Amino acid sequence: MSNNEMARLERASFGSKLGVILATAGSAVGLGNVWRFPYMTGENGGAVFIIIYVVCVLLLGIPCMISEFIVGRHGQANTARSFRKLAGGTPWAVIGYMGVLTGFLITGYYAVVSGWCLQYIWASLVGHLQGDPEYFKAYFSELSSDPVKPVLWTIVMLGITYLIVEHGVRNGIERASKLLMPTLFLLLLVIVAASCMLPNAGKGIAFLFKPDFSKISGNVFLGALGQSFYSLSIAMGCICTYASYFSRQTNLTKSAVQIGIIDSLVAILAGLMIFPAAFSVGVNPDSGPSLIFITLPNVFAQAFASVPVVGYMVSLLFFVLLTLAALTSLMSLHEVSTAFFQEELFITRKKAALLVSVSTAVIGAFCSLSLGAVDGFVIFGRSLFDWFDFITGQVFLPIVGFLTCIFIGWYVPHKIVHDEFTNWGTLNGRFFHFYIFSVKYVCPLAILMIFLHQLGLLG
Ligand code: PHE
Repeated sequence: MSNNEMARLERASFGSKLGVILATAGSAVGLGNVWRFPYMTGENGGAVFIIIYVVCVLLLGIPCMISEFIVGRHGQANTARSFRKLAGGTPWAVIGYMGVLTGFLITGYYAVVSGWCLQYIWASLVGHLQGDPEYFKAYFSELSSDPVKPVLWTIVMLGITYLIVEHGVRNGIERASKLLMPTLFLLLLVIVAASCMLPNAGKGIAFLFKPDFSKISGNVFLGALGQSFYSLSIAMGCICTYASYFSRQTNLTKSAVQIGIIDSLVAILAGLMIFPAAFSVGVNPDSGPSLIFITLPNVFAQAFASVPVVGYMVSLLFFVLLTLAALTSLMSLHEVSTAFFQEELFITRKKAALLVSVSTAVIGAFCSLSLGAVDGFVIFGRSLFDWFDFITGQVFLPIVGFLTCIFIGWYVPHKIVHDEFTNWGTLNGRFFHFYIFSVKYVCPLAILMIFLHQLGLLG
């Protein structure tokens, strides 16, 4: 028996196809879908942005996801070790370490934003989300700059994640995903229905689905491209780590397509939840990152003013949904480092998970405190929070994504790639050439363009 087969036998794995899809889609569906996608759509012209986004997911995001699947399933280990195996002693192994580092650094930051969601659930429950637009603005800035509350919520969020991850791949992550993802979908449909029944909702629907091609620009294109990578959780170690729990029967291409479709669908439904309500009360949908925490509570309060009970419920359900989406992504981020520490430090899963929760809570606390609670965390005009967002999302993500494509496209023997792609010849490899062409040329070029664009050097 080869080493790889032994590793496969000893290693944890997902128990079913559905588990694979729901857990990985859970990683992909996150704050990016419900928070970032709608405001990017608002800022970038609506329907046109959505069309370009879907094309980016299909032609670029999915090939990148398949590449990470291949590395992870072949490696049967944490992301760093999986890359190391394929790199065979060459410096290419660095990509895996960078992926783990990116995942690790973003965990704390992501937990802070997830923690805000918890606070908003609480606020909805006790009826604090009522007032005029100024009130909502003040509420959010008070919360984010508070020295204690957001830190506590961050710890709570990481604590919940710990309890899930600690239970292992099948009993923790897979089980939780099978419960959380359908719940999330159901909540989404309920809120979409409530939002689309409001007067004037049609305007919001038209904004989302009637393309105005005069809005196309380099910015719209690169924005959609960047969003598609972020939304699919690419280049953070998550996809690669989860793929190491896939079985030899998992069809990588089909799974990537299914996950891409679920992720895009949730993003578009999130738009359908937000824009009809926003248009119905005449609020501009291009209000940027504050859309979710400032604009939206106000929109819900106004839109359902005549039936406050419905307004109350919609707001509560919305933040529950946001928290569930954040939690499933946080689980995958947490797992990247948990698997890494467990396997590289030879410690138990429990210890590894605890180490990750505690260390990322410290990072999260610093990030949170840098938003106004404590002076001195502003470096070169950016808060620590913004630095984490910038370095992980805009620097590491494109670099790791770019290198992964080059690695698979140009370095790893095509025989290995083909074997994984076709499950050792048992699946049809019709799209293999298209896939290789994409990861060799198209994806690296596209990622390079996003990178230069984000640094202000292009578009
Ligand atoms: N894809 C997640 C989202 O849409 C974000 C994320 C990125 C999660 C990377 C994990 C890893 O919110």
